[in-house]
Amino acid sequence: MLKTHSCGELRAEHCTQSVTLAGWVNRRREHGGLIFLDIRDRWGVVQVVADASSAPEVHQIAGSIRGEYVVQVMGTVQRRLPEAVNPEMPTGEIEVLASDLIVLNPAKTPPFEIFSEHEPNEETRMKWRYLDLRRSRLQRNMKLRHDVILYMRNFLNERGFIEIETPILFKSTPEGARDYLVPSRVHPGKFYALPQSPQQLKQLLMVAGYERYFQIARCFRDEDQRGDRQPEFTQLDIEMSFVERNDILNLVEDLLIGMVETVSDKQLVARPFPRLSYAEAMDRFGTDRPDLRFGLELTDISNLVAGSEFRVFSATVASGGRVKALVAPGCADYSRSQIAELEEIAKEAGAKGLATLGILGNGEIKSPIAKFLAGDLLETIQQQAQAGEGDLILMVADHPAVVNEALSALRTELGSRLGLANPSILAFCWIVDFPLFMWNEEEARWDPSHHMFTAPKPEHIALLDTDPSSAQCQQYDLVCNGFEVAGGSIRIHERAIQEKIFELIGLDIDDARVRFGHMLEAFEYGAPPHGGIAPGVDRLVMLLAGESNIREVIAFPKSQRAADLMAGAPSEVDPAQLSELHIRIDLEK
Ligand code: AMO
Ligand code: AMP
Repeated sequence: MLKTHSCGELRAEHCTQSVTLAGWVNRRREHGGLIFLDIRDRWGVVQVVADASSAPEVHQIAGSIRGEYVVQVMGTVQRRLPEAVNPEMPTGEIEVLASDLIVLNPAKTPPFEIFSEHEPNEETRMKWRYLDLRRSRLQRNMKLRHDVILYMRNFLNERGFIEIETPILFKSTPEGARDYLVPSRVHPGKFYALPQSPQQLKQLLMVAGYERYFQIARCFRDEDQRGDRQPEFTQLDIEMSFVERNDILNLVEDLLIGMVETVSDKQLVARPFPRLSYAEAMDRFGTDRPDLRFGLELTDISNLVAGSEFRVFSATVASGGRVKALVAPGCADYSRSQIAELEEIAKEAGAKGLATLGILGNGEIKSPIAKFLAGDLLETIQQQAQAGEGDLILMVADHPAVVNEALSALRTELGSRLGLANPSILAFCWIVDFPLFMWNEEEARWDPSHHMFTAPKPEHIALLDTDPSSAQCQQYDLVCNGFEVAGGSIRIHERAIQEKIFELIGLDIDDARVRFGHMLEAFEYGAPPHGGIAPGVDRLVMLLAGESNIREVIAFPKSQRAADLMAGAPSEVDPAQLSELHIRIDLEK
């Protein structure tokens, strides 16, 4: 090794020892005959002193060194003068007096300062990701990610799970996104699909008798990017045979509680994690991924306002819609423009408007619709919504889905705006009892709420023939601080039911047999009852790290437009490669 110690490990107890260090120059400062170099490696930063009087050659080399040079330093650890002790630095009590200094590699001036807390812009960070990754924040995040994955592996290993790798070149495994396709050279005109998850393969491993499988699995989904979505991401993929729902929920809960306590200083608000039915979550929070760090629950006031003179409310209820309210505590005196901001958020979520009612005190009300709310209606709405003096009531009337989406967006906004979303807390909850199907407005058809391999509740199987839209399934999601961090289900393990689901989601049965024939067939060779789950590793690490974008916990993430700005991917390829694959590019002009 070119070093005897790491920069970060040196302490007062090392004083008088000779050490050899190697790392990057974080910073250089000159004080007359002394040059101070902060040398950085993965374990920390230590101050090195080049003294012109005791080692003139070393001092001369130090004078030529710039930030990010790679250097090797030989020297002796010594105590700093009392006035020079830096309590902010773990190595702040000592310094290394250099007796020799070798430049292992000089460096160009980087496009941004590595040691500074100042954040370079996004594009610069992505283009020079290997420099961005030198910054302490990302170094911390990468280490945390390692700790999380190591904890997962050890935990599952101790409970009899084995890790099995599954192919990346495979057949389409839909999870609701577009596939990434890979052309085959050997089979002209045919394509592999990159797995959106190892879903089919892990179920086949259950048929194969492995009983307890896991994998740190890479998944690929071509979908619109968001802060919590990347085109390739990592799941802790788990599958078990002979299990019931609670076995999986308890397993994951034990894993996460232990993990949070081991790798982070975040507080868990509740254990066991609360469980909400899908219906209850939608009702109380307007979303199936509620942030439970704060209250601000929605109140349905449809019955109260059904007969009101405010046409928007009464007509909406008359045509089967709902009116719900959300209380913004202490916001009664919001200005016109602050209210317009909130209304904009509601509109972005699809609402046609936002009705407001500010309770100013002394019986004074500020509301554009007050004149339509006759008699004691103003009073009853306040009571029902549990609003008091100083509060602002926000109301939306529309189809239930729009009302929920708009008020849930406002709830999230208020949570952060009013400082209710405590960043040091992790509020996990399970969402259970999902409907088996969700109506897909765009495509005008029933989609599986989770994926097509999720089992209906046994007592709802009869509904598949009579009223599939009211059947519930054995899906469960884990939510934390407003993010969906895991999804899973008890699976179908019988061919007839699987075929029935294919039929109900409008998959032609012959087509289904071509695409999923191997699954259907496998179910006829002794498939055990089984189920599983997949926590999203990136989202979990993001929450543990206190980041708000999963890019911050992925070494080489893609940009908003699914590109790698550093390497320049995706890119054009050699025409010879294309012709070998029998592919012709036909770009519309
Ligand atoms: P699901 O599609 O719910 O389930 O995904 C499981 C978890 O993976 C994470 N996740 C993502 N993370 C980052 N970027 C993305 N684009 C992305 N998409 C999903 C989320 C999510 O909760 N095969 C099933 C699991 C199962 O049934 O066992 C599946 O993939 O945290
Ligand atoms: P208008 O009569 O359209 O000017 O609306 C009066 C008030 O009701 C305005 O504050 C609108 O934002 C609000 N509003 C309009 N449509 C809705 C709706 N669907 N739900 C809630 N408030 C609405």
